[in-house]
Amino acid sequence: MFHLGWFLTTGFGVYGWNQPWSGNVAADVGRPELFVDTARALERAGFDYMMFEDSSVLPDIYQGTFESSVSAGQAVRMDPLPLMPLVAQATKKIGLIATVATTFYPPFLAARLYQTLDHLTQGRIGVNIVTASPHKAAQNYGLEKHIDHDKRYEMADEWMQAVTALWNTWEKGALQLDTETGVFADHTKIKPANFEGEFYRTRGPLNLPPGPQHRPVVCQAGGSPAGRDLGAAHADTIVSAVVGAEAMKAYRDDISQRMIDHGRKPDDVKVLYLVSPIIAETDAEAKEKQAQMRAAQAANISGNLAAMSYFTSMDFSKFDLDAPMPDLSGNNGHQSTMADFAKSGRTLREIAANHRTVESVELVGSPATIADQMEEVMDYAGGDGFLIAAPVTRKNVTEIADGLAPVLRRRGLIRSDYTHNTFRENLLEF
Ligand SMILES: Cc1cc2nc3c(=O)[nH]c(=O)nc-3n(C[C@H](O)[C@H](O)[C@H](O)COP(=O)(O)O)c2cc1C
Repeated sequence: MFHLGWFLTTGFGVYGWNQPWSGNVAADVGRPELFVDTARALERAGFDYMMFEDSSVLPDIYQGTFESSVSAGQAVRMDPLPLMPLVAQATKKIGLIATVATTFYPPFLAARLYQTLDHLTQGRIGVNIVTASPHKAAQNYGLEKHIDHDKRYEMADEWMQAVTALWNTWEKGALQLDTETGVFADHTKIKPANFEGEFYRTRGPLNLPPGPQHRPVVCQAGGSPAGRDLGAAHADTIVSAVVGAEAMKAYRDDISQRMIDHGRKPDDVKVLYLVSPIIAETDAEAKEKQAQMRAAQAANISGNLAAMSYFTSMDFSKFDLDAPMPDLSGNNGHQSTMADFAKSGRTLREIAANHRTVESVELVGSPATIADQMEEVMDYAGGDGFLIAAPVTRKNVTEIADGLAPVLRRRGLIRSDYTHNTFRENLLEF
């Protein structure tokens, strides 16, 4: 069996507001309905979690203007955290992961906020820890420029240690709720964290009891060696966009080894690979759909260059479109993705014309065909599941939740129900 997650590629943002099948999305911008409906459908399908991307910057890197950011609504994002309890209230079992940038968020605020959310979601909250890429984001928090890539990961590691120390300030059993003695909590089981690191200091303890999970689920997505190490040290789930079955297998093996090096069991993390299935009733129809999507993508070169500019803080309008993609792996943003582009030997125009959310394997066909492909690649790679990324429309969600998932379930490849109430217990069940 494998796990399924859904990646909301622009977080609590704007999805397909002027596209077919978008329903009332334009009028509903900033409202929870689409996300609530999505969560209900994915829970019906047995998904482990929804993962909300986040960023705090409206980029003007590409061509030096905000045009590419706002004309399609692409860069608009509400803060995903207040959405979590609204979605949780409409569901019972699905896990909800919201992203936080460790570089900017003080550990105490994050530890308290996520512990509060663990209560409000009844043990279904998770935190995706990212170090954030663009310089402009850093400037929103008073820094002149962003901190160097590997240093950010060193800070993220210490940030996780600080947050963990705060989450552990209330021992198990501290909460008494003893109506006879009138003792709410046993003060002898509550200790300060007194965390002193190179980058962070926090005293603690938290001023609230632990939620049902005690430690919210931790998710990590970094692909560079520093990113992988952070995931291996702290994560319960790692999401990856490495390309091809070989790379997926190598990635899982690498994470397992790093976990052993950190004194953890490889099974204690679930590695999910990014995919964007293209589903239709027949394989031929799915191929046709793929061709149409590719044509639309190829026509949107400037949109794709803007996305790449955002990831790297470099203005891609300045590069020669018809020269081989320069090696930008030393950029201060998404290093691993840029290294993969450079290795491909393709021109920037070719890369931009084909630039979609990077997916690990291509999945195209009828539900039965895609189920075959998923089974085969997961058997080979030895990973733990798939993180599905598709534009969030009710139609796309239904194709996966009510088209693909039942086929996977009949074959015993995904869960038929949830055994537990908390996110972590369900995630670590198999
Ligand atoms: C599935 C997935 C989700 C991600 N979500 C976010 C996000 O929400 N916010 C963010 O700033 N970066 C996000 N990233 C970027 C990663 O945190 C990381 O910067 C990127 O994978 C490059 O890895 P590296 O930083 O280790 O080089 C995501 C990456 C992947 C593959």
